[in-house]
Amino acid sequence: MMKNNYLRLFLILSILSIASCEWGRMWETPAVRPHEEPIMAVSGGAVPMDAAEAIYRAIPAEDLTSPVAMDDPQTVAAGSNLYGLYCIQCHGKYHDGYGTVGQSFQPLPGDLRRPKVQAESQGKMFKEISYGIPGGRQPDLASTIAIEDRWKIIAYVKSLGVR
Ligand code: HEC
Repeated sequence: MMKNNYLRLFLILSILSIASCEWGRMWETPAVRPHEEPIMAVSGGAVPMDAAEAIYRAIPAEDLTSPVAMDDPQTVAAGSNLYGLYCIQCHGKYHDGYGTVGQSFQPLPGDLRRPKVQAESQGKMFKEISYGIPGGRQPDLASTIAIEDRWKIIAYVKSLGVR
């Protein structure tokens, strides 16, 4: 009986001493994630200058229209350069899905000249490269590629035609 009481006292004292310890309080320091900047104080009534991305996210794929002339050879040429920057590593030099990086993906990137891809609407392709393919492995590149540049790449991909 006596032994039990000592045990209880010991337990209570140890719980109290843990509770009163001066641990480093991580939850009291501001948590800033990598690449994150503290949010600046914005004066009341301010509106974002560029809401374009939010609008593109909200509009359904079938209602999206390109702000650049998609058939213009200059657009297509610019798109070709941009493909070399942002897509070639996965989709390959010949657009067949045999890019070096792409080979480590499951599912593998397909041939961009497959009828399925070439028949896709421009809006659907915009959504895919901007926000990824649900359940798929296409990266969401919205924060990587400027909006107009994404449309130029689509103009280029569409210009490839069906293989
Ligand atoms: C990091 C690798 C990677 C990059 C970079 C990448 N893709 Fe993909 N992409 C994939 C993979 C993997 C798939 C297929 C898997 C899936 O269904 O999600 C895919 C699928 C697609 C599809 C859907 C059609 C299909 O083949 O199933 C399109 C269209 C597409 N990519 C276009 C592009 C364009 C245009 C770019 C450049 C702006 C790009 N991708 C950049 C990996 C990539």
